[in-house]
Amino acid sequence: MRSDETASKTGGEIAAVVLAAGKSTRMRSKTPKALHSVCGRPLLAHILDALAGAGVTRRVVVVGHQADVIQTRVDELFGPNVIGYALQAEQKGTGHAALMAEPALAGRAGTVLIVPGDTPLLTADVLRALLDEHAQTGAAATLLTAILPGGAGGYGRVLRDNADGSVRAIVEARDATPEQLDVREINTSVYAFDAPALFSALRGLRPDNAQGELYLTDVIGLFRQSGLLVGALVSPDPDIVLGVNTRVELAQVSETMRRRILHGLMLSGVTVEDPQTTFVEVGVRVGQDTTLRPFTTLSGETTIGADCVIGPSAHVENSTLGDNVRARACFIERSHVGTDCRIGPFANLRPGTKLGNGVKIGDFVETKNATLGDSVSVSHLSYLGDATVGARTNVGAGTITANYDGVRKHPTIVGDDASLGANTVLVAPVHVDSGALTAAGSVITDDVPAGALAVARERQVNKEGWAARRRAARDLSEKGTEQTPP
Ligand code: UD1
Ligand code: CA
Repeated sequence: MRSDETASKTGGEIAAVVLAAGKSTRMRSKTPKALHSVCGRPLLAHILDALAGAGVTRRVVVVGHQADVIQTRVDELFGPNVIGYALQAEQKGTGHAALMAEPALAGRAGTVLIVPGDTPLLTADVLRALLDEHAQTGAAATLLTAILPGGAGGYGRVLRDNADGSVRAIVEARDATPEQLDVREINTSVYAFDAPALFSALRGLRPDNAQGELYLTDVIGLFRQSGLLVGALVSPDPDIVLGVNTRVELAQVSETMRRRILHGLMLSGVTVEDPQTTFVEVGVRVGQDTTLRPFTTLSGETTIGADCVIGPSAHVENSTLGDNVRARACFIERSHVGTDCRIGPFANLRPGTKLGNGVKIGDFVETKNATLGDSVSVSHLSYLGDATVGARTNVGAGTITANYDGVRKHPTIVGDDASLGANTVLVAPVHVDSGALTAAGSVITDDVPAGALAVARERQVNKEGWAARRRAARDLSEKGTEQTPP
C-alpha cells in the first residue's frame, strides 16, 4: 500500500511529533544535538525530510533546551510556518515531551507518528512501512523495533508475550533486570499511535523509574493493560534506527549516511573510485559519467556537471561546475565554473569566482571575486582579485592584481584577447583594454589602450667586463688584509 492510501485510511492527514527538547548532555556541546551536522545537514532536518517523504502533512517539533536556536535554524532551512513547535520548558522525559505536543495537534484524530530527534538515518520507506502496518492491523500503537547486530546496548528492550509473541511492554536498559537485558529486540523510539489513545495514556504516566522521568515507553504497557492492541514492525535495516547520543555515535551515523549518499550517486551513473576517501554531502548533485577520484569532498549547495573528473584531492563547496570539467587538487568555494574548464593542481578558487567555458586555471593560482571569460588561461602562479578578464586573454605566469591599497579593494579590468606578460603587476584600479599586451615584469599603474604594448619597467643595462673587474677588486682587497699586521 502506498502512503497516500495509508493517509486515506487514517483520515487523510498524518501528523508527526519529533522529540527534540532534551539537554543532549552526552554530546558535551554548546550546540544542541538536533543541530549537529550529519553529512552537511542538521540531524533534525534529516528526520523532518524523512517525515515529509513518508507523506506526513503536519510536523511538530518539541523543543526545550536551546529552543530558540533550534527553531531559528529549522525555519531557515524549511521556511517560516512550515514546521510547528511545542515547548517543553522542563525536560521531564520523553512521555512528558510527547504530551506537550497535544495543543499543537489541535485535537486531530487519526494517526500520529512519534519519532526521536536523534535518529537521522530513519528513511521515508521505513516510516511508510510502519504507517502501512499500523493501518492494516488497526492497532492503537505500532512500534518500530530493531535487532542490532552489535548488541542492544543502552536501548530500551521490547518485552514480548511468551505465549503469543505480542508486545507486552518496553523496559529501559537502566531499569531492566539482567534477564531483560538479554533481550535483543530494541525500541527505536519510532511509533505510530492512535492520537486520542496516546494523549489519554500520557496523562496517566508516573515517574516510577531510575531517572524519575515520564517515559513514553511506559505507554505501551498502559495500552496493554487497558486492552488496546499493540503491534510492532521489526526494521529490515537495523542501521536506520541508530540514535546519536555521543559524538562517537555521530561519527558512526555520519559514516552510514555518507555510504548511503555515495551508493545513490553510483547507482545514478557516477563513478566513485574510492568510497573510503570520498565525502559528498546531502543535496549535492553530480552528473552522469562524472568520476570522483580519491580524497575528494563535495559540500553545501554544489552541483557538478556530467563527464567531469573531480579529484584527486578536490574540495568543492557551495559551487556549480559545468560539464566536462577536470579539477585536480584544488579548493573551489562559492564559485561558478563553466563547461570544459581545467582547474589545478594546487588552485584556490575563492568566493565570487566565475569562470566561462574552456578556462584553464593552473598551479598556484588564486582567484577571488574574479570573472574570467571563455578560454582565458591563467596557467601558473597568479593572483586575480576583484578582476574581470575578457575572453581568450592569456595571463602570464606570476601575474597578479594589486587590488588592495591597505584601505580598500579596487577593480582590475582586462579586455578580450589581451596578453599579460609574465610577472605583470596590475595596480588597481586599472584597465588593460582588448588586444593589449603588457611586457614581462611590468608594473601597470596606468590604463593600457586597446591594442597597445605597455612596458613599465627599467630598461636593461649590460655593463661589459664588469664581472672581471669585480674579481680583480676582491683579490686586491684580500691581499690587503693579509699584509695588515695584527
Ligand atoms: C529513548 C527510549 C528508548 C529507545 C531509545 C532509542 C525512552 C524513555 N527511551 O532512549 O527506549 O531505545 O530512545 O533511540 O523514551 N527528549 C525530550 N524531552 C525530554 C527527554 C528527551 O524532548 O524530556 C527527546 C530528546 O531530545 C531525544 C529524544 O527525546 O531526541 C530521546 O531522548 P533520549 O534521552 O535520547 O532517550 P534515550 O535514552 O535514547
Ligand atoms: Ca537517544
